[in-house]
Amino acid sequence: MGNLLDGKVAIVTGAGRGIGRGVALELAAQGAAVLVNDYGVGLDGREPQSDMADEVVAEIRSHGGRAAANAQSVAEFDSAAKIVAQALDELGGIDILVTCAGFLRDRMVFNMAEEEFDAVVGVHLKGTFNCIRHVAPHLRQQGSGRIITFASGAGLFGNPGQSNYGSAKSAIGGLTKAVARDLGGYGVTVNAISPVAATRMTMTEATLKAREIRKKQGIVREESALRQLENLSPEDVAPMVAFLASEHAAGVNGQFFLCAGTSYSLLSQPRPIKTIFKEARWTVAELEEIVPQTLAEGLANPAPPIDPE
Ligand SMILES: NC(=O)c1ccc[n+]([C@@H]2O[C@H](COP(=O)([O-])OP(=O)(O)OC[C@H]3O[C@@H](n4cnc5c(N)ncnc54)[C@H](O)[C@@H]3O)[C@@H](O)[C@H]2O)c1
Repeated sequence: MGNLLDGKVAIVTGAGRGIGRGVALELAAQGAAVLVNDYGVGLDGREPQSDMADEVVAEIRSHGGRAAANAQSVAEFDSAAKIVAQALDELGGIDILVTCAGFLRDRMVFNMAEEEFDAVVGVHLKGTFNCIRHVAPHLRQQGSGRIITFASGAGLFGNPGQSNYGSAKSAIGGLTKAVARDLGGYGVTVNAISPVAATRMTMTEATLKAREIRKKQGIVREESALRQLENLSPEDVAPMVAFLASEHAAGVNGQFFLCAGTSYSLLSQPRPIKTIFKEARWTVAELEEIVPQTLAEGLANPAPPIDPE
């Protein structure tokens, strides 16, 4: 047990299993009282069970920590308000919000149903906003707080079959940067983690196959790409979350961290890497000439046309 977060109250969404569970246990081990939220759904977001968070709460209490369970869905604005209200009523405050809740409904874009797109954007992007929106007034008023959101390689690099999830995760990046600016002046920091860990979300045939293909193509997205996914424990992400939640990270705001197992990286912020410029508007004929030798030179197509053979 540490005392990094003594006296703090944290909400961790989607904390019944996977990365969120590891985060809840670590924050509690560092002294925080934790509201363990989990709607208890299947990987596709269906069939909620209300007792998913109870086991994690019991585990925290068995180690002498303080915790309460919550089974509301983050995807509904009013339910998210209840999550925050419970932290205030039962645990006496709110200092830290960590948004891990989410599910997948993968399908290639040409087959994706509108409902599949809406549901995944609803739980990840809207769910993250919902929780932030309800904690923000409290954090602003007390002049301190920490928010840690969860992005993904699917939003940073793009994965086949995840137009819904990739859109939501990329937008969580934009949300994180905007809110970091809204709240930074009030002593609140907002940072995003893009994790890689062996959970039910990633130990799927499709993910393992995609990693294998990238490996064969020599594409290294993260340091862990050459390690077996099953060796990347979801608990490995938690220490970085605890650090970002602590006073030691007061100067870290609006940043993205790739946490792949035990390999932690600061991600670059997008910036122009090549520019062409002239005073008057470009003609298409000029671009035909100049772009292949400048902006488009050496670009790799992430999904080259499939050979019909
Ligand atoms: N595992 C990875 O490698 C990886 C990679 C990139 C991003 N992420 C992100 O990290 C976060 C945690 O992922 P994980 O791998 O631990 O997944 P997981 O499936 O193990 O855990 C997610 C939890 O969220 C809960 N949940 C789903 N919908 C909910 C809702 N409406 N309200 C409250 N809880 C809900 C689920 O019941 C589940 O317990 C997610 O945001 C995920 O997108 C994970």
